[in-house]
Amino acid sequence: SIVFAVGCVVALALPGQAMAANSKPIVIKFSHVVANDTPKGQGAQLLQKLVKEKLGDKVKIEVYPNSSLYDDTKGLNALLTGDVQLLAPSMAKLGQYSSSVQLFDLPFLFDNLEAVTRFEEGDGGQKILKSMQGHNILGLAYWHNGMRQMTANEPLLTPRDARGMKLRVEPSNVLAAQINELHAVPRKMAFGEVYQGMQTGVVDGQGGNTWSNIYSQKWNEVQSDMTESNNGVLDYMLITNAKFWKGLPDDVRTQLDDIIAQVTKSVNDKAGELNQQAKQDIIDAGGTEVHELDKAQLKEWRDAMTPVVEQFSDEIGPDLIKAAQESNQ
Ligand code: LMR
Repeated sequence: SIVFAVGCVVALALPGQAMAANSKPIVIKFSHVVANDTPKGQGAQLLQKLVKEKLGDKVKIEVYPNSSLYDDTKGLNALLTGDVQLLAPSMAKLGQYSSSVQLFDLPFLFDNLEAVTRFEEGDGGQKILKSMQGHNILGLAYWHNGMRQMTANEPLLTPRDARGMKLRVEPSNVLAAQINELHAVPRKMAFGEVYQGMQTGVVDGQGGNTWSNIYSQKWNEVQSDMTESNNGVLDYMLITNAKFWKGLPDDVRTQLDDIIAQVTKSVNDKAGELNQQAKQDIIDAGGTEVHELDKAQLKEWRDAMTPVVEQFSDEIGPDLIKAAQESNQ
């Protein structure tokens, strides 16, 4: 039919036109909210460097760290409108696009980053990577940051210590629910505003973030106590606009996929070490106490928070949760 023929011509003509106009490199903007000396910051810079080396005449990656272009909420909107092409938000920012991605926000689900890797590489993880295609968001890779640690201006040794505190969380219903379980008050707040929030007392502390984020944001200057709670994982999904990605010339997309695989390996190999270094830097800076929990205290936190797993089980998918639990081996 004519309609079909016209549709075909349009579909075939678009990539061709895009290529013809491409004497200048394709610009890919990568916006994120953390510092350069964090797992994600390093990953973004390595990606930029490798793309320059291997695809310099065809593709240019521009990196905007530290919320210098967008915070995460605006970044996600910009990805959908085509104003930015790459983001790596924490999974806690993606619940509005996928109910299954909320799995990563569940408390005490993974024992360590190795378990997270096993889950991500398995069927469940691969399924979640594709779970936002209905929103035109394509997951390209998982990047680690690390395990979450709680901070405040008083020692948080048992769940009772958190009672009544206003604790910053990322915009995740699962993370907010955990704070409610502690009879504390969750405050959803953009990453770049947390330091000031702590300084002015808008929040008393925060419900879990990584050593590398805590140190690079200088939260240790405005928090006197940190608890090595490992109460969850903060991991990222490298995402792009699906239509944009599929519209790239095939050879370019293939090369980018290869480079991303290489960068992913590097980020995930180094994330644990970067966080351990940041923890040590916090201790060395002084002024803040880092509390370790004994077995009994850890169990109290687990018992207080884990009702949330049951609460979100149907929404996230019981099979996925089971697969994640089994990745602890
Ligand atoms: C946060 O908002 O605390 C984190 O998601 C920031 C990040 O990208 O690590």
